[in-house]
Amino acid sequence: MTDTVASLMAEIADLGTDPRRGGYSRPVYSTAELDLRAWFVAHAERRGLDVETDRNGILWAWAGGVGEGAIVTGSHLDSVPGGGAYDGPLGVASALVAFDRLAESGVTGRRAIAVFPEEEGSRFGLACLGSRLLTGAIDADRVRALTDADGITFAEASRAAGVAPDHLGADPEALARIGTFIELHVEQGRGLADLERPIAVASSILGHGRWRISFTGEGNHAGTTLMGDRRDPMVAAAVLIAEVQRLGRRVPDARATVGRLVPTPGGTNVIASRVDLWLDVRHPDDVVTRYLVDEITAVAAAVARDQGCASAMTEESFSATVAFDPGLRDRLAGALDDAPVLGTGAGHDAGVLKEHVSTAMLFVRNPTGVSHAPGEAVEDGDAEAGARALATSIAELIGV
Ligand code: HGY
Ligand code: MN
Ligand code: MN
Repeated sequence: MTDTVASLMAEIADLGTDPRRGGYSRPVYSTAELDLRAWFVAHAERRGLDVETDRNGILWAWAGGVGEGAIVTGSHLDSVPGGGAYDGPLGVASALVAFDRLAESGVTGRRAIAVFPEEEGSRFGLACLGSRLLTGAIDADRVRALTDADGITFAEASRAAGVAPDHLGADPEALARIGTFIELHVEQGRGLADLERPIAVASSILGHGRWRISFTGEGNHAGTTLMGDRRDPMVAAAVLIAEVQRLGRRVPDARATVGRLVPTPGGTNVIASRVDLWLDVRHPDDVVTRYLVDEITAVAAAVARDQGCASAMTEESFSATVAFDPGLRDRLAGALDDAPVLGTGAGHDAGVLKEHVSTAMLFVRNPTGVSHAPGEAVEDGDAEAGARALATSIAELIGV
């Protein structure tokens, strides 16, 4: 095979582009993401890999026979709205090139590439859905009932994608096939750029969660309702969002974000009756994350009272801080010319799998440090260095 990571990435560069937002919008099971899945399957089959879609919609491409204890790599193909080109697909493209290198070197150990659905949680609101289903970390009935902005359930979207929703759920047999999982991912920060190194091995993933906050007031006419007669949830939301920034800034190493807000009904000349917003809070110490969320919850209730509104807060997901195994981490760093070790504030399927199987991550330099936005970047030379590092890591794990 003469594919390079850059040539593979160029093949998919037009899939899921988003002219309105910029960047890429590739929601799970959308036409764009299904086209990306088909692109991956075609490349895997061209390489003679055994391809299957499991009960949770995870794609698996096997070399050396399907069985337990395999070295598995891979990532995801779905994106955030207006996301970058590399978050997810870089790991999948690099896995294909790494497998080419291993095949050319005659490495025969059992290995697979896995592609996880709904890593971003952009369509159905819950991140790492595929790996959470695989590991039993989430109730399948809850997942089936999740809905997207158009009211389509995950069950309906899965069925339309050819994944039987009734079969969603923990899959211990599939999990047992993973001996070690190693995910390559674009670095979502400037650590490697500042270190002037192309590759890092991951040390940790920040704990992070998502909370839905709803303010309910009184919908009314923007022109006939005097200012003193209003119970406006949009004002409550605005005050809270400013408070989220103030409280987040007060806690060292905390990240507190409101990136999504949905007014109902959302008319220019209408005082909203309800506003839903989503809070993303992260910190190295899960206790601090909880403390910060409690503070924000209290502020939300007070702000709602000030505006004559009601408020409600629902935890939608929480992932504890993950520390990758130091032994495996340092073994890989050693095999990779003493690659630096870096933590990340971004969540990954590897963080979910880490609780169940031996897991590691590699990061590839991102010169802009930007992610979840069109500015995300990887230079071709670093992309190839990443595929080489992944091949070296897999060979090391296979024991050649
Ligand atoms: O949100 C995250 O950290 C990841 O990119 N899903
Ligand atoms: Mn990702
Ligand atoms: Mn992401």
